[in-house]
Amino acid sequence: MPGDSDPLSQNHYEVNANEPFGVSIRATRSGRHVNDLSVDLLRFLVRQHHLLLLRDFEVFDGPASLSAYCERWGTVSTWPFGTVLELVEHDDPSDHIFDHSYVPMHWDGMYREQIPEFQIFHCVSAPGEGNGGETVFSNTTGVLARCDPDTVTLWSKVTGIYRRKMEFYDSVTTSPIVTVHPVHGAQVIRYNEPVAAEDRDFVNHPDLEFIGVSAEELTRVHSRLKAALYDPADCYAHSWQTGDIVITDNYTLLHGRNPFTSKAPRHLRRVHVLGDPPMDNPGLAR
Ligand SMILES: [Fe+2]
Repeated sequence: MPGDSDPLSQNHYEVNANEPFGVSIRATRSGRHVNDLSVDLLRFLVRQHHLLLLRDFEVFDGPASLSAYCERWGTVSTWPFGTVLELVEHDDPSDHIFDHSYVPMHWDGMYREQIPEFQIFHCVSAPGEGNGGETVFSNTTGVLARCDPDTVTLWSKVTGIYRRKMEFYDSVTTSPIVTVHPVHGAQVIRYNEPVAAEDRDFVNHPDLEFIGVSAEELTRVHSRLKAALYDPADCYAHSWQTGDIVITDNYTLLHGRNPFTSKAPRHLRRVHVLGDPPMDNPGLAR
């Protein structure tokens, strides 16, 4: 029987599998703080299950306390804005991440010197029922395991060249679509889903180029990849509740965002934690 000293005592927490992947831990007694849980245990869960939701806990009263918590996980990435990205809709966004539009699948750090292993999100304010804004995660090891070998062989021929300029960087990165996890070597997908050029509402299109197969094959690659990444068997759309903490394995997952109602009160904070040792971005043009 777990006692009070058990970090996941059933008296205090409810642990469930999240579908189709991930783990959720809910505090079933008030006054439990995220800080009370063993970071070693949580890190293990994220590496095993790729996504961890902590719900109904006492959380952080501001960006400084969130950042201090994330330092318990490892080396925190520092950006021009500091360590905590405030994900809120801007009045006149210069980039889609600050708009209320959808965000295509991508991996974090793709344009940075180092690729973070973990993303730690804190939902300061949920967008509200029916307002959308789910963060969408795709488990790429699952996608590849489910795919027929011929499809994986075709995807493996393709390399993406991504150019993106925004407030925080102006970078070019190159990556094969099928590559390997930097720690355990399992195959993973690194892909930035293209957005139709005609989508005029999408602010600040990145410039994407894919090489390695014919134009006809490339059309098939994009359409099959999109279907596979968003297949409910491997795709989880997280519907935010205020106070949620979500921690993810950025080495394995790709993520994007569903559009949300403009002016809905969606406010997330996000911090990147580097791996140990940190992973230098293999595709960044220097
Ligand atoms: Fe992202």
